[in-house]
Amino acid sequence: MKADTRRLNADDNGIAVAGRMLALGRLVAMPTETVYGLAADATNGEAVARIFEAKRRPRFNPLIVHVADVAEAGELCHLDPDALLLAEQFWPGPLTLVLRRRATCPVSELVSAGLPTLAVRVPGHDTASAIIRCAGRPIAAPSANLSGAVSPTTAAHVIADLDGRIDAVLDAGPCVVGVESTILDVSNTAVEGPAILRPGGLPAERIAAVLGRPLVEFGGPADRLLSPGMMASHYAPQARIRLNVKSPEPGESLLAFGAVVPATCAPTINLSPSSDLREAAAKLFAALRQLDSDDCRSIAVMPIPGEGLGEAINDRLLRAAAPRPAGP
Ligand code: TXA
Ligand code: MG
Repeated sequence: MKADTRRLNADDNGIAVAGRMLALGRLVAMPTETVYGLAADATNGEAVARIFEAKRRPRFNPLIVHVADVAEAGELCHLDPDALLLAEQFWPGPLTLVLRRRATCPVSELVSAGLPTLAVRVPGHDTASAIIRCAGRPIAAPSANLSGAVSPTTAAHVIADLDGRIDAVLDAGPCVVGVESTILDVSNTAVEGPAILRPGGLPAERIAAVLGRPLVEFGGPADRLLSPGMMASHYAPQARIRLNVKSPEPGESLLAFGAVVPATCAPTINLSPSSDLREAAAKLFAALRQLDSDDCRSIAVMPIPGEGLGEAINDRLLRAAAPRPAGP
């Protein structure tokens, strides 16, 4: 347990301090364009182990490694022609590629949780890039929340979950994308061809368009096998979540979408009055945290279309609504 969590600003000094702390094996929550990540030196097994401890992760789920550019990814992993095409098209950005580790890959085995693959991305956020370059090594970073809680999209969310458990948080304001990266398996290890393991900030249609062919999708047990962190109940507020609700029950808080909202006296947050899925994604996790902190027993969620970023939004809402695992 750490005594104090330092607050760092997103200026040259804050970035330099964050980079130095990471190089020393410390835990620093950093902004990315998707959500805040809990960063540590991916080559330092002890630092990586501390991530699991700080998040109270029940199991050693594999973590995403953040690098500065495509060349650095190529030093860690094999990039076949599909992977290279996608990396050059979409990095920096909200796409994580699951790749085969090189024999010389210096990243701790704990990051891969024993798999022959590594999930890698180049974040599309200037502060994150600057921190990675300053640290001068690959950076492991899961979302900076307690295990099972909603991902943080502001530094205040990070503090609410992890104050005193991590060394520092660098505050660069709210994340613009608001849902985690899309995870695409291009390793050809467990499955042939590019397969979406988690819908996210980069819509699957855009990936398929660049590849010129459809992607393999997982919804069932294969999903768990390949992406062990994808537990059904993962993004879970305390309150019960009811989906696709057109009229909320009395006293039920409302997560609304679109211009036409049912009348209610209960707390209401509209993800996007103009039905803009980008705006809705960016506001989703903050809205869930806000409604949940109002001590309500149940949150009704209006229907949200499934295309584009709607796929990731509905995926997170389904997980938030799923039955909770027993125990703490
Ligand atoms: O946007 C994001 O992806 C954020 C920011 C901080 O980069 N990170 C994030 O990490 O969401 P996390 O740990 O919350 O989710 C990582 C997911 C887990 O579901 C894990 O199982 C999967 O990535 N994963 C990691 N390595 C994998 C691998 N080698 N094969 C399959 N799935 C993997
Ligand atoms: Mg997470």
